[in-house]
Amino acid sequence: TPYLPAGPGARADLDALRRASADCRGCPLHENATQTVFGAGAPGARAVLVGEQPGDQEDRRGEPFVGPAGRVLDQALEEAGIERADVYVTNAVKHFKFKRFQGGKRRIHETPNGREMRACRPWLLAELRALEPDVVVALGATAGKALLGSSFRVTRQRGELLPLPDLDLIGTPAAARAVAEAAGGAGGETSGDGAAGDGAAVRLVATIHPSAVLRADDREEMYAGLVDDLRVAAAALG
Ligand code: URA
Repeated sequence: TPYLPAGPGARADLDALRRASADCRGCPLHENATQTVFGAGAPGARAVLVGEQPGDQEDRRGEPFVGPAGRVLDQALEEAGIERADVYVTNAVKHFKFKRFQGGKRRIHETPNGREMRACRPWLLAELRALEPDVVVALGATAGKALLGSSFRVTRQRGELLPLPDLDLIGTPAAARAVAEAAGGAGGETSGDGAAGDGAAVRLVATIHPSAVLRADDREEMYAGLVDDLRVAAAALG
C-alpha cells in the first residue's frame, strides 16, 4: 500500500525534493520564471492543499500562497477550523506562467497547459508520497485536473469527500473514473480499480481556487462556499 504514515524521513525527503526541483527543466516555464516555488509546510501535515501555480508574489518570494490568494486561503482555513500547522501547501505547477501586459512590467497570469501539468506532476506525486496526508484539497480546476485527469470538473464535485485514487493513477482517466464511481455509489464504495474506498483511505476534497473569490462579483458567497468546502476537509481530519 502506498499510504504508510509519514515517517521521520519526510522532512529530509521534502528538503531533497525542494533542492532538486530548483534546477527543474522539465518544461519551458523555468525560462521566464524567477525560481521554482516548491511546497511549504510541516512535514507532519495531515492535509495537503494543492493550488494551480505560483503567482507574481510567490514567484518573487519563492513561497506558495503568500500573495493575495494566500491571504484569502489563510483566512478561510482559520474559519474552517484547520490549523496552519496541520497543512502543507503546494501547487500543481511549480513555476509561474505569465505574459507581459502590453510588453510592459506587469506580469499577467496564464493558465498552465496539459504538457506543463504533466511535466510537473512527478514533483506533486513525490510530495504526496513523502507526506502521506489524510486529506488532499484541490484548490480549483487546475489542481483537480492535475490529480484526477482532464475530465475532472470542480463545479460538479466540489465539497464532496472523495477517495484519492492510488498515486500510480493520479492524473489519468482511470483516476477520474474511480472517483466518479465512488461519488455516485454509496459510502465511497469503489469497484476496486484504484480508488481507495475504505475508512483508512486518503480523502480528496475539491473546491474553488481562492483567487476566484477575489475576482467574483459575489465575493461573500464565493468565500462562504470555499469555507464550507474546507469544513468538509476539516471534518475528515477529525
Ligand atoms: N495561486 C496559486 O494557485 N498558488 C499560489 O501559490 C499562489 C496563487
